Amino acid sequence: MCTHKENDAASKMGEIDLRDRLAHVYNDQISEYQHLVEVASAIKKLDPIRDEIILDIGCGTGRITYKLLESGCKIVGLDFSGESLRVCKSRCDELNHRRDDFCLIRGDACNLPLKNDFFDKCISSEVLEHVPSKIERLKMILEIHRVLKPRGRLLLTTYNHSLRKIMGKKKETAENAPLYAYRYNYFELKKLISHVFKGEVKIVGILNLRHWVPKTFLGKFKNQFVAVDVFIEKTPFSYLLAHLLSVECAKPIMLENK
Ligand SMILES: C[S@@+](CC[C@H](N)C(=O)[O-])C[C@H]1O[C@@H](n2cnc3c(N)ncnc32)[C@H](O)[C@@H]1O
Repeated sequence: MCTHKENDAASKMGEIDLRDRLAHVYNDQISEYQHLVEVASAIKKLDPIRDEIILDIGCGTGRITYKLLESGCKIVGLDFSGESLRVCKSRCDELNHRRDDFCLIRGDACNLPLKNDFFDKCISSEVLEHVPSKIERLKMILEIHRVLKPRGRLLLTTYNHSLRKIMGKKKETAENAPLYAYRYNYFELKKLISHVFKGEVKIVGILNLRHWVPKTFLGKFKNQFVAVDVFIEKTPFSYLLAHLLSVECAKPIMLENK
């Protein structure tokens, strides 16, 4: 019988293999609309500033990384799929981003090969849900907290379970699924993040109307629908129907004991 640790390691190896194989088609699988909504939301909330050092955990093939680089910030992109990082690097080169402005590292989000208190900001888009156990997910959040500077900000998105629960769908993928995924609900995610980041934790839902509106309409009126999506995020119960939960928080400053 396998231990939990062995199961987690096997699940991660399975994901690395799949991500490596799909790296060259990953960007094509994301619809233009989904990309617009998610990237617009990420950039607006993270508000990257020239020369800030930002960690993009689970950067994958880099659709958020390239966009952040446009602001003049420095990016460290980390992913455990070497092939995804290769795609990310060649895209950054094609877009003429300066080599000095980004650094891509192959590593595990739950055991970051990075210094304490180093990053101004951290973004992690749709990664937490693929980390295969509760303990490993807690490790990932602890690691993010460790590498952020005091006052450093985290923006993290992850799959939401609320609507899927109403539809009778499970929180966790079946054991033999090719890719592991765990869906949080608002309160559970808030508890996890608040346990590590002690200050204010803000969570909103990103609805992504692609799940609700026929493709032909989305194509024709995409800018208008993106604006509606962005507006829905500001409404109090956005998380109930949302596809993604989006967390914003900051690492508190430790006050010395007098
Ligand atoms: C759904 S993709 C998201 C990629 C990118 N953040 C985006 O929004 O397009 C999830 C990414 O997380 C990476 N990943 C999952 N678990 C990881 C872990 N434990 N350590 C490092 N990368 C991980 C995968 O290799 C994959 O590239």
